[in-house]
Amino acid sequence: VALSTSAAVRGDAAAEVAHLVDPTVPFALRAICNLGIADQVAKGPKSITEIAESTGTDRHMLLGVLRVLAQAGLFTESEPEHFELTSLGDILRTDRALSMRHAFQLVDHEVAAWAHLDHSVRTGEAAFDHVHGEGYWEYLAGRPDELARRRDNQHATTRLELMAALRAYDWSSVGTVIDVGGGDGTFLAKLLARFRSMRGVVFDLPFAVEEARQVFVDAGVAERAAVVGGSFFESPLPAGGDVYVLKRVLYAWDDDQAVDLLSRVRRAMHGESRIVVIEPVWQEGEALANAILMDLLMLVMGGGGVRTPDELEDLFSRAGLVLTRIIDTPVLPLVEGRVR
Ligand SMILES: C[S@@+](CC[C@H](N)C(=O)[O-])C[C@H]1O[C@@H](n2cnc3c(N)ncnc32)[C@H](O)[C@@H]1O
Repeated sequence: VALSTSAAVRGDAAAEVAHLVDPTVPFALRAICNLGIADQVAKGPKSITEIAESTGTDRHMLLGVLRVLAQAGLFTESEPEHFELTSLGDILRTDRALSMRHAFQLVDHEVAAWAHLDHSVRTGEAAFDHVHGEGYWEYLAGRPDELARRRDNQHATTRLELMAALRAYDWSSVGTVIDVGGGDGTFLAKLLARFRSMRGVVFDLPFAVEEARQVFVDAGVAERAAVVGGSFFESPLPAGGDVYVLKRVLYAWDDDQAVDLLSRVRRAMHGESRIVVIEPVWQEGEALANAILMDLLMLVMGGGGVRTPDELEDLFSRAGLVLTRIIDTPVLPLVEGRVR
């Protein structure tokens, strides 16, 4: 009995580990998102032949992919070779307010870095830099297509983060927001659209802010928004902001770089300004699982990693700031600070 029990346990363990190392679901998911397949079956079940014809794809391959994703609970095969979305899969449609179609991190340059995780573990070096021979942002600067994909990905997560930040923080009395490392201005545009007397500046690398002006025009906020391109390690940051937002920026840098960046924000702040860092924080509770994942992701991609409240407090202090509070949200916490 003892022998067969342990064999069964070993069998369970093997099945469980096999499940953990199975890459088919993530890659199948990425393929159907790239191809926009969820949109094709949004209005009810369709045959594999119809879906393949309308998307210009190979019927046999597509059938394999959809069956894998049906097992994962995203589609159902309602009758043989006919597929429709489940309520879970519905979020993959492009036209959903919180669409996750573009939210997957499985872009080629990141997958290549993950494939060399063992190098990072051996040496402590970021796998991204090892594989690509340059840092993350230098790499993206020369590759507009990959940058555009990354931007789509950021838009998907920004929608969720904005919703949480709006609920958690009182923005209504804020006059001017400076979004430091604010990418193409999507987060700021949405804030300005919500608060009609607010003004804002987005600051980011020149290639990253190229489309910000258009984003502001499209959101109907261009008259209250400015765009500044530059490196936050070289150019002075725009002065006069009431709130300096750094959303998913600080954890991409090691401690000395983070203190340098925070000091530069500190120099641009006036006596009443606040800094609001929005990123994962290493603390107990529901958010810990996300912090653990994001920490490794950052280390592989060449960043500083996720920090504890004490570590953040220390960085703030070294930069002449005082951490005033951490506001938890279901998405990312907001870490607020003031001039000391
Ligand atoms: C993870 S992204 C976050 C973007 C945006 N805040 C968001 O949450 O969607 C980090 C941002 O930092 C910007 N960045 C990286 N290095 C920078 C530098 N030296 N100066 C200014 N911005 C930089 C990147 O271009 C990118 O937009």
